Amino acid sequence: QRLELALESIEKGGYEHFMLKEIFEQPRSILDSMRGRMIAENNHLMMGGIREYENKFANAQRILIVACGTSWHAGLVAEYLIEDLARIPVEVEYASEFRYRNPIVNENDIVIAISQSGETADTLAAIELAKSKGATIFGICNVVGSSIARATDAGAYTHAGPEIGVASTKAFTAQVTVLTLIAMMIGSKRGTIETTKLHELIAELEQIPAKVEQTLKLDKQIEEIAAIYKDATNFLYLGRGYNFPVALEGALKLKEISYIHAEGYPAAEMKHGPIALIDEQMPVVVIATKDSSYEKIVSNVQEVKARKGKVIAIVTEGDTTIPSMADHVIEIPETSEHLMPLLSVVPLQLLSYHIAVMRGCNVDQPRNLAKSVTVE
Ligand code: G6P
Repeated sequence: QRLELALESIEKGGYEHFMLKEIFEQPRSILDSMRGRMIAENNHLMMGGIREYENKFANAQRILIVACGTSWHAGLVAEYLIEDLARIPVEVEYASEFRYRNPIVNENDIVIAISQSGETADTLAAIELAKSKGATIFGICNVVGSSIARATDAGAYTHAGPEIGVASTKAFTAQVTVLTLIAMMIGSKRGTIETTKLHELIAELEQIPAKVEQTLKLDKQIEEIAAIYKDATNFLYLGRGYNFPVALEGALKLKEISYIHAEGYPAAEMKHGPIALIDEQMPVVVIATKDSSYEKIVSNVQEVKARKGKVIAIVTEGDTTIPSMADHVIEIPETSEHLMPLLSVVPLQLLSYHIAVMRGCNVDQPRNLAKSVTVE
């Protein structure tokens, strides 16, 4: 028993929990997921799994993405990326719904299956269904040799390393990194992305690990915010554009490990329901970085404040407008909006982590959840 405990503490590398260790590993796991696939100096992108199917990808009528949980959120980010950069229509589906709803799939479709464990039963079944209809299946898995990795025609691994915490953190950012590279590769092949824009994105992506490192320095500040809201019973997470899936992921992280009810919403949808919940008891996490929807989200923050909600805003460094309205401000580095999820998700991971620890929850093994769900 003693030996087991000692081993576990070595595995945690000095961190109190695997989840925290994995959050802090992200600069490394993101770098590992792009290493060898992107050479910034000569603007080169190369991914073995994609190269082989490059023409197929470039000519695809449609891309379907199937996944569950956090991987599904990475799929939503990919929808924005692929549609924006490669101009191919994308549909993101919960694997569990897809497999049972008689979906239309044909030989010209590419199905991207995203799975950390590579063992999720619903995702595997969705792949089998799509395969039986002749689609090309591309897998993005973290676990090498996993069932999903073996069931796909081609794929790319996320090099996040083993993820032990049930709540997925570094696997998500690794998935988004790989999906970003894929979107850039298809876009450049199809000519839907301007060369200068592509080079800009490559240069920006190269800086992401350092910027994640910088974001992690906010840990203490986030812990202080967590102490203020740890007893809240509800949380709302709002984001627009690329930050909308991040809002969903932030809410999922909080409910998974702290058991606080949380909902993620596209900020503009707030007026169609969630706004009714806002009062002085309601913490609202708003991801409001400087991007094309910034002006819009400023008005959403005003709407929350007018109803006395407590605003915890994630903003771009140097922003002065939102800080003048928000109750708490978390400043993260600037980057292209295409890459922002890689940074903006980090404070949300830390916020849920600290709240869960303060509530005495079992962070690495939350009740009723499993790391890989091999039953439907
Ligand atoms: C479980 C895990 C989640 C994960 C989801 C999908 O619910 O607890 O963290 O996001 O399965 O898992 P996968 O391994 O397919 O990414």
